[in-house]
This record gives sequence, structure tokens and C-alpha cells, in this order.
Amino acid sequence: MKTVIAKNEGISKGCELILNGELVAFPTETVYGLGANALDGDAVKKIFIAKERPMDNPLIVHLADFEDIFKVARDVPPIAYTLFDKYCPGPLTMILKKNPAIPDEVSAGMDTVGVRFPSHPLAIELIKGSAPIAAPSANLAKHISPTTAMHVYEDMNGRIPLIIDGGECSVGIESTIIDLTQQPPVLLRPGFITLEELSEICNAEKYTGPLNVALAPGMKYKHYAPKCPCVMRKTIDLLPEYEKAKLEGHTPVLIALQTTIDKFTQENLGADININTLSLGKDGTSAAHFLYSHLHDAEKVYDYIILEAMPETGIFYSVMNRAKKSSAE
Ligand code: TXA
Ligand code: MG
Repeated sequence: MKTVIAKNEGISKGCELILNGELVAFPTETVYGLGANALDGDAVKKIFIAKERPMDNPLIVHLADFEDIFKVARDVPPIAYTLFDKYCPGPLTMILKKNPAIPDEVSAGMDTVGVRFPSHPLAIELIKGSAPIAAPSANLAKHISPTTAMHVYEDMNGRIPLIIDGGECSVGIESTIIDLTQQPPVLLRPGFITLEELSEICNAEKYTGPLNVALAPGMKYKHYAPKCPCVMRKTIDLLPEYEKAKLEGHTPVLIALQTTIDKFTQENLGADININTLSLGKDGTSAAHFLYSHLHDAEKVYDYIILEAMPETGIFYSVMNRAKKSSAE
């Protein structure tokens, strides 16, 4: 299959493909999604084949208008309205009771469904012109989530007919997932919207249960892995790890916060020592934005990735959640 990349001029073709039961990759503010008509079980099956994704890992349904929530969910609780008003469209996924119209392929046979209202204008146009769109991230299962159309192309070339290119994703990590079918609501996946922010609206709790139960099926799978070894080290252990990797014959790269890189390159080492670095910027928002894009770049150029362990509060908690999975630690 030939995979075409198109900018906004590809939207009408994209809508046609979705309505014909085909797959379309599209930009969202978090990461690129691999979409199919959420009401068409056979179309949704193609997502699992293209991604090589286990069928027991359910998909998020993407909507453009709040009213459409009733097409995919039922018994929508008042808290969903409040969260919608405050954070949608935006990087938040709400787990709700499933409407019977949603096929089992989307929900992995569970009685719940994940619903999200992306804010990227091209995602909104695509949904409005077609149907509710079931979409996981548009990478091969286990690989790093895509934040550009080119990342999608590298994993999906030959597997899907169309990629809509909406530029670089602004957020850079996947949506926050909150399960509203539990009381109190449970944070299943941290994201750009933090537990601290959600706590202002509801008494949400971090998920602490086992990772192999139906409540959080995606959490048990290894995710976001680059193609070369990737480790995480405390700031103080970064340089020793770097030296060790070099001695072992690797071409390592350090992915760290800008303040750390400044310290290493200027103060401690002197300008004559060249270390390969990719900067996560100065704060949690920039770290989220750069994490996946740097991992994509790093695996192409280097063969050993050393990630800096960051604090685990606010959005850094979400960045660390992904970084830990990438580094298999
Ligand atoms: O930002 C995002 O959420 C991106 C963009 C494309 O919207 N999507 C995304 O999808 O990250 P995916 O498939 O990579 O991650 C979806 C996660 C999985 O861990 C899955 O287990 C969980 O959502 N999930 C989906 N439906 C669920 C449900 N009914 N109950 C519990 N977890 C669910
Ligand atoms: Mg994913």
C-alpha cells in the first residue's frame, strides 16, 4: 500500500477514507493518532493489525462536539461535564460507561470507553467531516509515540493509505487518562493535565493496583522504547554512565534538562570536552514537548541513550512516567 503524506488539503480524502472503513493518521496536540471509524468494528481491527497491537489493549474515541459523547458513552456523570468545561478540547481522556454502539474492538470487550476531545484544528476537522474516531498513538506497538508526521511515516509506511501532517505536536506526550467509572475517580495515566490540577475539581487518586487487570489494560505493556539501549540515571551519575558507555565502544547521548547540560559543558568539564547532548529545556512543559522527539532523533544518530532522572511532581511526574517506560527501568 502506498502511504501518502498530505497537509490540510488531505482532510477531505481523510474523511472519505474514515467513512469507507480505512485508516488515517492525524495530528493531535499530544501525539499523532492512528484513526478509524469508532462505530465500525472491522475498520477498528485494521488499527491493531497496522500497529501490531495486542487486541486486549482498548482504544480512545476522539470526538469534536460534546453532544456526541452520548453516541459513545452512557450514564455520563456530572464530573464529566465539569472536566469538559475546564479542559476540553485538550489533552484529557475520560473513561466512561460504554454505549452499546461502540464495538468490542474499541473497548477490548470491556464495559467502558475512553473519550477525548483533541484540540488540534486538523483533528477537529477530520472528526467533524467523518465520524467518532477510535485512535491509539500512530506508532508500532512498543515503539516511541510519534510527534511529527515523519515519525508516523517511519513506522507506518506501507501499512496505511494516508498521514495528515499538522506539524509538530505541541504537548508531546499522550493525554492524561482519568477513570470516571470509579469513585473516587482514578488517574490511569498521567499527562499534561496533572493530578494536582485535577484535584482542584475532584478527589482523583493515582492508580496503585496491579498492572495486569482489566482496569488499566495498556499499563502492563512495555511502551515507548527506542531501538537502542536506553537507561535512566540520577543527575550525578550521568557523566560516569556516559564515560562507561564510551569505554564499551558506544556512541552515547545524554538527554537532560538544560541546567544540567550547562553545568556539565561549562563548569565541570571545560569547553574542550565534547559530550553529545539533547536538551529537554528548562521546565516540565518543555521536557514533555521534547522527550519523544529527542528519543526519535537519538535512536537514529547514537547507539546508547542516557536519560536524566527528573523530579516526580507536577508535569515532571508525567514525563518521568514515559521516561521510565522508555528506559525499561
Ligand atoms: O493523547 C492521547 O491519548 C493519544 C492521542 C492519539 O489521542 N492516544 C493514545 O492512545 O495515547 P494509546 O492507545 O496509545 O493509549 C491509550 C491508553 C491505553 O493505555 C489503553 O489501555 C487506555 O488508554 N484505555 C483506552 N480505553 C480504556 C478503557 N476503557 N479503560 C481503561 N483504559 C483504557
Ligand atoms: Mg500508545
